[in-house]
Amino acid sequence: MQNLRIPGPTACPPETLAELSRQMINHRGPEFADMQARIMERLKLFFRTQNEVYVMTCSGTGVMEAAIVNTLSPGDRVLSVSIGEFGDRFFDIAEAYGAAVTKLAFEPGTAADPKAVANALAADPGYKAVLVTHNETSSGVTNDINAISKAIRAVNPDILLIVDAISSLGCIPFAADAWDVDVSTTCSQKGFMIPPGLAFISLSPRAWKAYESSTIQKYYFDIGKAKSYAERGQTPFTPAVSLYYGLDLGLEMMDKEGMEQVNARHAAIGDYTRAKARALGLKMLAEGPHASNTVSSILVPEGVNAGELLKILNTDYDTVLASGQGKLTGKIVRIGHMGMTSREDIDAAIDALEKALDRLGYKKPAGVGA
Ligand SMILES: Cc1ncc(COP(=O)(O)O)c(C=O)c1O
Repeated sequence: MQNLRIPGPTACPPETLAELSRQMINHRGPEFADMQARIMERLKLFFRTQNEVYVMTCSGTGVMEAAIVNTLSPGDRVLSVSIGEFGDRFFDIAEAYGAAVTKLAFEPGTAADPKAVANALAADPGYKAVLVTHNETSSGVTNDINAISKAIRAVNPDILLIVDAISSLGCIPFAADAWDVDVSTTCSQKGFMIPPGLAFISLSPRAWKAYESSTIQKYYFDIGKAKSYAERGQTPFTPAVSLYYGLDLGLEMMDKEGMEQVNARHAAIGDYTRAKARALGLKMLAEGPHASNTVSSILVPEGVNAGELLKILNTDYDTVLASGQGKLTGKIVRIGHMGMTSREDIDAAIDALEKALDRLGYKKPAGVGA
């Protein structure tokens, strides 16, 4: 079986996959309403919020767009913090809808410095919102959202903090309420052990206030529609019912395991992956507290072609790792370890990596990994 080790979509457990083939139900009937209520209640646990969490049928980029169109208006000043490709995407979406966006970029492989974010806000009091990625999947770096939130609120307590937690929530600790996040977004194909196609969004009271005055044109992603239909146990448009079946079970499994334990399991598999890579003499792009526990970026050793490495892994070892993106293209390969990932999956991937590197002439430095 293929060892799919990309940072989403992730390989799903057979139990959730089996749910996907169940017969359809009426999405405006009582069974759907019960299922949606269960799902929304459990999602609140993982968002660590008292606010409602709405499910939308779309990919992660869809809820990023929902976050923007529901809280901003054309011309609003926005500070977009970017530590990589997905931070850049948030910038692009806000700009596409006519916000006046300023990018605050940090070198790929590093985390956003909360002080620098606060300083950018202090230098210009006109900002209405800050956009930030919790876990930058393109570099394998996790931002400290709590520290960023505290730093920006010290400058402007009412600013909207809008967070892409797409490759973190449900894996790495995230706390919408305790961290005073206004819009929290994530989606199905990363930590929730089901395929792509559903996305989740929660708004704070501050964000709902912004919704009331937002003048960006919206229709499919209008969160007000999602709210009023959810109150009747429905969604405004036909939902991906099969994915709801999978999600219902995935959340039940996560709830049984316990949120703290799910987070601890991701921390352990992150540490394990990095230790195994280091034991081959490889270096990580990110180390220390900002190294991601859902995706690890390994620097490709000098003299090794990243594209060839990935191709050999795929064709000869049935192992799929992800390439670098943007500025990191050719410089790193990424191993996903979110959702249902075992030590055996990582052992097999690292074993394949060792063999493929050997074929490309890589020699482990003397004294490493003994
Ligand atoms: C951090 C982050 N943001 C946004 C996205 C975009 O999600 P999607 O590809 O589901 O639209 C991804 C997907 O990999 C991601 O990792």
